[in-house]
Amino acid sequence: MQTANDIRRTFLDFFAKQGHQKVDSSPLVPRNDPTLMFTNAGMVQFKNVFTGAETRPYKRAVTSQKCVRAGGKHNDLDNVGYTARHHTFFEMLGNFSFGDYFKDDAIAFAWNLITKEYGLPADKLLVTVHTSDEDAAAIWRKVAGLSDDRIIRIPTDDNFWRMGDTGPCGPCSEIFFDHGPSIAGGPPGSPDQDGDRFIEIWNLVFMQYEQLGPDNLVPLPKPSIDTGMGLERLAAVLQGKHDNYDIDLMRALIMASAEATKTAPDGAHAVSHRVIADHLRSTSFLIADGVLPSNEGRGYVLRRIMRRAMRHAHMIGAREPLMHRLVPALIQQMGDAYPELNRARALIVETLKLEETRFKQTLERGLRLLEDEVGHLGEGQPLAGDVAFKLYDTFGFPLDLTQDVLRGQGRGVDEAGFKAAMDEQRRKARESWAGSGEVGTEKLWYEIKDELGATEFFGYDTEVAEGKVTAIVKGDARVEAAAIGDQVMVVVNQTPFYGESGGQVGDAGVIFSAGGAEVAVSDTLKKLGAVWAHVGTVTKGTLKVGDVVELRVDSERRSAIRANHSATHLLHEALRHRLGDHVTQKGSLVAPERLRFDISQPTGLSAADIAAIEDEVNRRVLANSEVVTRLMSPDEARAQGAMALFGEKYGDEVRVVSMGGPHGELDRDYSIELCGGTHVRRTGDIGVFKIVSEGAVAAGVRRIEALTGTGAKAWLSERDHLLTEAASVLKVKPDEVPARVAVLVEERRKMERELADLRRQVALSGAMGGGGAKADGGNDAKDVAGVKFAARVVEGLPAKDLKPMADELKKQVGSGVVVLIASNEGKASIVIGVTDDLTGTLSAVDLVRVGAEALGGKGGGGRPDMAQAGGPDASLAHAAVEAIEKAIAAKKAS
Ligand code: ALA
Repeated sequence: MQTANDIRRTFLDFFAKQGHQKVDSSPLVPRNDPTLMFTNAGMVQFKNVFTGAETRPYKRAVTSQKCVRAGGKHNDLDNVGYTARHHTFFEMLGNFSFGDYFKDDAIAFAWNLITKEYGLPADKLLVTVHTSDEDAAAIWRKVAGLSDDRIIRIPTDDNFWRMGDTGPCGPCSEIFFDHGPSIAGGPPGSPDQDGDRFIEIWNLVFMQYEQLGPDNLVPLPKPSIDTGMGLERLAAVLQGKHDNYDIDLMRALIMASAEATKTAPDGAHAVSHRVIADHLRSTSFLIADGVLPSNEGRGYVLRRIMRRAMRHAHMIGAREPLMHRLVPALIQQMGDAYPELNRARALIVETLKLEETRFKQTLERGLRLLEDEVGHLGEGQPLAGDVAFKLYDTFGFPLDLTQDVLRGQGRGVDEAGFKAAMDEQRRKARESWAGSGEVGTEKLWYEIKDELGATEFFGYDTEVAEGKVTAIVKGDARVEAAAIGDQVMVVVNQTPFYGESGGQVGDAGVIFSAGGAEVAVSDTLKKLGAVWAHVGTVTKGTLKVGDVVELRVDSERRSAIRANHSATHLLHEALRHRLGDHVTQKGSLVAPERLRFDISQPTGLSAADIAAIEDEVNRRVLANSEVVTRLMSPDEARAQGAMALFGEKYGDEVRVVSMGGPHGELDRDYSIELCGGTHVRRTGDIGVFKIVSEGAVAAGVRRIEALTGTGAKAWLSERDHLLTEAASVLKVKPDEVPARVAVLVEERRKMERELADLRRQVALSGAMGGGGAKADGGNDAKDVAGVKFAARVVEGLPAKDLKPMADELKKQVGSGVVVLIASNEGKASIVIGVTDDLTGTLSAVDLVRVGAEALGGKGGGGRPDMAQAGGPDASLAHAAVEAIEKAIAAKKAS
């Protein structure tokens, strides 16, 4: 038997041998199409390659593409479980030519693969072509030798494939397998074509046009090929089964479900097991691609699928959460082909478990209510809309879950009534905030949030994505368009830009519109916690509401932010290790150029503390372990030891980021924090970590600033450069600099002491104040109104040396007044001494005041025999001496 895994491999290998590049499946959330909810065909990732807007280094490609058809235009959710060929998740095998080969080769490849490699009998195959496409019919005749009755012309759009209202498109040719006359159904194009006898297995699209608008079809630059073959259908045909759920892969999942619930895989519970098997695939793959359950958009589609599966698990008697226990079986089946499943294993398991645990609390009560209500209804009477709404609002029942429950009874729901009840609730919510006194722009953002819902954030795993402009705010008003030079806030339905929160700054980057407009985004804000506002200036063209735009995050800046954010987590843990568990976060700023982290810590960090902390963080960086993100309830997160901010309000679910542990396992992890920020993939991406400052910001709060990556490297290089320069000036080797500097400092201290002594001696000898030196000071002391007066003005002598010198000088004059003025860097210090015999008539305190004033200052203090003061202007020293002389003369004269 060819297993599903064999069939996939055969397909990829066959086309690789024919010169096709094997390309990985793109994520389920299309980055390049804001109008598409989920990737639903292999060609989605190549959309822009077909139109010529994007080029790739290859012209032929082959993929096995993950597809989800739920929630959007293609919604198969309601049918899953009840039919043979509906899935919410399936794989599409496809080969692609971008302006390389066309119909001839496409048909020949397809025919050879299915008849030779897969070995399907040619006489069981037939094909359709579009009525206008005689070329294709001729090629089928030639290549496959099919007779004309097995080349069916279809005039309708069934044989003209379109991606959507716009995008590449073209006529197509489909290959059908005939299960034989024992099964009911007619060939394609016949009235009973919907029977099960003829099953379409492969669609070859001859891409020739691009649909630009309703009546606007233009030729593509080069005719191309897009094909799609559902792996599950093909496997059913090759494994001789009639039902996609009987193929090996699906059967393994159904068996896992049956075993886990100890129920029979077939019989009464068959539908539930099929639902569980299908939904296990779509939910796990969606979570692996970054979709998380929520009440809006893609997240709500995921939640609906999950809850539908959980209701079926409940129905077959599972009392404990079931879905997460089936993940190993899924990974065993599909993990080799899709390694992302393994990478996201923990996230998938925990997300499923959390959702199911929470939903269990209301599922049973909701089902009881539903049963009661239905009891009052007549045969076939639909359930009232307000009851369905109550189930939705109070018990978390998505509408389609209620419909699924009622389906078995042949009963529906009054959908209009449901919608009316929903609108009424929104109206009330609107009124309550309208009356809350919010004004100006605040009110505007409430309006935008209410009308447009939350922005979907893609930025955890991509920095480029397409989005649709849903609002433009200029000043405090909404506008329909913004022209060059306008400063605006742009709102889109989905974005890779991180909106400022949790200490991490908002992203910067560029927004491009298909119409040629460009917005330079300098910051991104998260309004009301839900609506992303891209703050920027229109630098080109005109941006309009409704425009499809490409949003490009400034990648270098974001890398630096990521490194700084992850380093902050490692720093937090290292601080607690070194300083103690009293260390808690008091504030944090994660910017591209640096990180700032405030902690509760009474005393400063020593150089040894800082070195040890840096060392510990860098060891974790070098270990280069994986950074793991999980989703869980706040209580569970705390139980796991995650650091959370005390008193902070958290939602139902929190992101838990752990890193630095040896294996990334939760219980052995180093740092575990609740965090919505963006992080590096592995700690090694931080590069290097360096603390550059530490200081107090408030009582008991210290602030640490640090650098990582290229910033830290630049800082260290600069330090190194300074050291080299210092070494060269000192004429020693860099590692001898500290010892050399210590010697120089000691030498300098000694020399300063010697110099001061010398100056004192010189000053006392009178050499600087004028006149020669005399032991009694008589020669250079002059007579002022009968008082001996000696004055000295000296350079560079410390102020503290002046008093002992004045005492010395007083001794030398015996009886008189001495004045010492020292000038240091332009400022003056003055000391005046009066010998004891004269203090009765002359006070040093009075005289020093006169001196200080003459020096441009005032005040001064001391005793009658010795007083001191300072003055700002030492150049006035000689004028000060004269003023003091005059004051003595005046005093004596009075
Ligand atoms: N794009 C084509 C399809 O989805 C092959 O059927």
